[in-house]
Amino acid sequence: MDAKEFRDVGHQVVDFLAEYLEHIEEKRVFPEVEPQTVNALFAEPLPQDPASAEAVLSELETKLVPYCTNVGHPGYMGLITPSPNPVGIIADFICSALNQNVGAYSIGPSAVAMERRVVRWLTDLCGYGPQAGGNLTSGGMMANFIGLKVGRDAVTGDQAQRDGVRDRFAVYASEERHVSVDKAVDCIGLGRSALRALPTDASFQVRIDALEHAIAEDKKNGRPLCIVGVFGTTNTGAVDDIHTLRRIADRENMWLHVDAAYGGGMLLSHEWPMRDRGLELADSITIDPHKWFYAPLDAGALLVKDQRRLTASFGIKPSYLTDELDQANERYQYYVHGFEQSRRFRSLKVWMSFKRYGARQIGEWVDNNVRQAKYLYALAEEHPEFEPATNPPMSAICIRFKSDGLSEAESKILHAEVAQRVEESGRFWISTTELKGKTWFRINPVNFRTREEHMAELFQLLQQECRAILGEKGLATRSA
Ligand SMILES: Cc1ncc(COP(=O)(O)O)c(C=O)c1O
Repeated sequence: MDAKEFRDVGHQVVDFLAEYLEHIEEKRVFPEVEPQTVNALFAEPLPQDPASAEAVLSELETKLVPYCTNVGHPGYMGLITPSPNPVGIIADFICSALNQNVGAYSIGPSAVAMERRVVRWLTDLCGYGPQAGGNLTSGGMMANFIGLKVGRDAVTGDQAQRDGVRDRFAVYASEERHVSVDKAVDCIGLGRSALRALPTDASFQVRIDALEHAIAEDKKNGRPLCIVGVFGTTNTGAVDDIHTLRRIADRENMWLHVDAAYGGGMLLSHEWPMRDRGLELADSITIDPHKWFYAPLDAGALLVKDQRRLTASFGIKPSYLTDELDQANERYQYYVHGFEQSRRFRSLKVWMSFKRYGARQIGEWVDNNVRQAKYLYALAEEHPEFEPATNPPMSAICIRFKSDGLSEAESKILHAEVAQRVEESGRFWISTTELKGKTWFRINPVNFRTREEHMAELFQLLQQECRAILGEKGLATRSA
C-alpha cells in the first residue's frame, strides 16, 4: 500500500465512520442475526493472495458492520461499554499508525511521557499525592489482578513473589464485587476459596459487621491479606464505606484495594461529586477510562499510592531489555514498573479526550447519565407493577416487575424473556441480573447520546413486554 492508496482508503474510512456516527440512532442496537450466520460469514481459509483495499473494505461493509452491536446508539444501556467519544476513535487510528510500544522507553519516548502524564491526571483525580503512580491496562480485570498482586507482595514483604504463597491468606470483598476479584485471588496463588464474599446491607454496601466477623474467624488459623472495597458496584453503583475499610486494614496490617473501574467517572460529576468518599485512602485503585470517561476500548488503569510498590512487584530487568544507552537512569521503563511488556499506546485516546472535551464536559455527560437513571428510578417507584432495587447513586439501575403471583423461578424466566424481546426490538439493549436472590432488569446508560426520553420509551417497552408475556403464559390475572 503506497502513500496515495493509504490516503484514499483513509479518507474513505473517515467518511464512512462519520456517516455511521451521524446516523447511529437510526440503526438497530443489536443486529438481527444468528450466531451460525455470523460464523458462516467468516468461514474461509487463510487468504493466500492479495485483494485491493477497496475489496477488503467492502467486505467489512457487508459482513462486519451490519452485525455489530451499536454501543454508541443511545439505546445501548447494557454491560459497561460506553459510547466511544469521537476524538478517542481518531486517537486509536493515530495510535496504530505510530505503533509506539509503551513497555520500553526506547520504543516511544513521547508516548511513555504521555502515559505518565495521564496516570498523573488520574492519580490527582483520585486524590493521591506525588508518590503515586500506575499503569494503563487492558481493563479493570487486569487492573484488579495487578492491584491484588502488588498488595500480596507488600503484605508479605515481597516474600511471596520469591517463595510462593506459604500462609493461609484471606481476601475480603462484598457479594457485589466484580468477578475479576475472584479471578485475581486465584491468579495470585491463593485459590478462589481464599475469597470471603461478604453480605451487603440494603444499599448494597459491604456489611462491616460481617467483615469483622470473617477477619476474626480467619485469624484463628490464617492471615487476613487484603480488603477489596468497591467504589461503584456493577449492578447498582454502590460505594463501600472506604473510611472504615481503611481503619480495619490498618489495624490488621492488610492491603486495601478499591475497585473504582466503573464508579471512577463520578469523580468528574458536578452534581454528585464523590470526592469525599475516601478513595484516596486505598493503597491501590482500579479506574477505567474506557468505562465512564467514554474512551474507546481499551483503557483501564491501576493506580498505587506509592509507585515504588509497582517496581518492587515487577522490577525484573532481563539483559535483552536493558537499555545500555540510559547511563543516567532517566528513561522510564514501564516493563520494570508494571506487569505487561508490549503495551498499546492507550494513553493517547485518554489524553486527547481530556484535551478535546475537558473534564468539565465529560463530567456533564456523567451527570446526564446519573439523571437518566434517577428518572427511571422515579418512574419505576411510582408504578404499581414495578419496583427499583435502590435509588441509584450512579447510572446503574436495577428494576423488576413485581408480581406477587409469580414464583422466583417464573420471575426469572419473565425477566429473561423480556430482555430478549428488548434486544429483538432493536431499540434498546439491557441485561438482567440477580440481587439478593431476586431477578432484575439491569440498565446502565454510560452513553453521551442517551436522553431522558429514551428512559421513558424503554420503561414503556418493559411494561408492554411484561404484560404481553404474562398474558401469553396465562399469568396476567395473578400479577400484583
Ligand atoms: C466494578 C468493576 N470492576 C471491574 C470490571 C472489569 O473491567 P473490564 O471489563 O474493563 O476488564 C468491571 C466491568 O464491568 C466492573 O464493573
